[in-house]
Amino acid sequence: MKKQEVTRSSNIWMDCPARYGLVSRVLHWGMAYLLIWQFAMILCWRVFDGSDLLKTISSYGPGHGTAGALTISFVTIRAFWAFANSHRRPTHAGWAGRAALAGHAGLYLLMFAIPALALLRTYGNGKGWSLWGVQIVPATGVKVDWMTAPANALHGTLAWLLLCVIAGHVAVALVHHFIGRDDTLARMAGRLMHRPQSDGNPATAPSKV
Ligand code: HEM
Ligand code: HEM
Repeated sequence: MKKQEVTRSSNIWMDCPARYGLVSRVLHWGMAYLLIWQFAMILCWRVFDGSDLLKTISSYGPGHGTAGALTISFVTIRAFWAFANSHRRPTHAGWAGRAALAGHAGLYLLMFAIPALALLRTYGNGKGWSLWGVQIVPATGVKVDWMTAPANALHGTLAWLLLCVIAGHVAVALVHHFIGRDDTLARMAGRLMHRPQSDGNPATAPSKV
């Protein structure tokens, strides 16, 4: 993908063809933190099961259900935001662009489906589930097999698939940056506004401090 010669919008909140805006970036990096934390903790518990150090470290971040509930909440907001900005976001042309869009759609789908199936299971097993003292899923005391079966069969498998898609996504972003040397990563992590260019007049030149 060649560097885009597109003027950046002066509105830092919204997306524009040259880069993602602040709202998209906060959602993207906030959710990246949540998911990386989620998988790091799951993998660490498998390797260092029960160690006191791991218990201390995991107490500094959201628990498994909390990270999942935040993920499904944020991904819903993010999908609405992506739709509302769809006509002004960076475009993805050609087969590589279509592959990128398919990858992004897959990430959205998995980020929604994995916690959704788990929450359906907590309703179906009758025990309910609360978050920060608020009863999110009511405890019915009734076991409903068709509600628990999908998560029993798919929650873990889809979650590991998500980890693989995330790994591919991060690898592609790094290849774009370090090998392709294009502005793909800068659209999500670079400057939001262009620095004003100096016109040679010291009075209008940008300050270096
Ligand atoms: C971003 C959302 C989530 C991700 C990425 C995720 C990921 C995972 C992974 C990787 C496992 C281990 C599977 C295995 O043993 O191979 C797991 C297990 C589990 N998760 Fe989640 N989870 C999410 C959300 C939730 C939520 C919201 C709940 C419940 C409120 C939940 C409840 C469970 C339970 C009970 C297990 C153990 C049983 C099972 O493997 O299905 N998860 N999760
Ligand atoms: C860890 C979980 C991550 C998830 C679930 C994720 C998901 C996504 C999604 C859905 C998009 C499409 C834009 C949007 O709707 O916001 C996107 C864009 C992007 N992500 Fe991630 N991302 C993750 C982590 C990362 C990391 C660690 C990097 C950097 C190494 C990265 C780099 C990018 C870049 C450069 C774009 C813009 C790509 C383009 O415009 O074609 N992402 N990401």
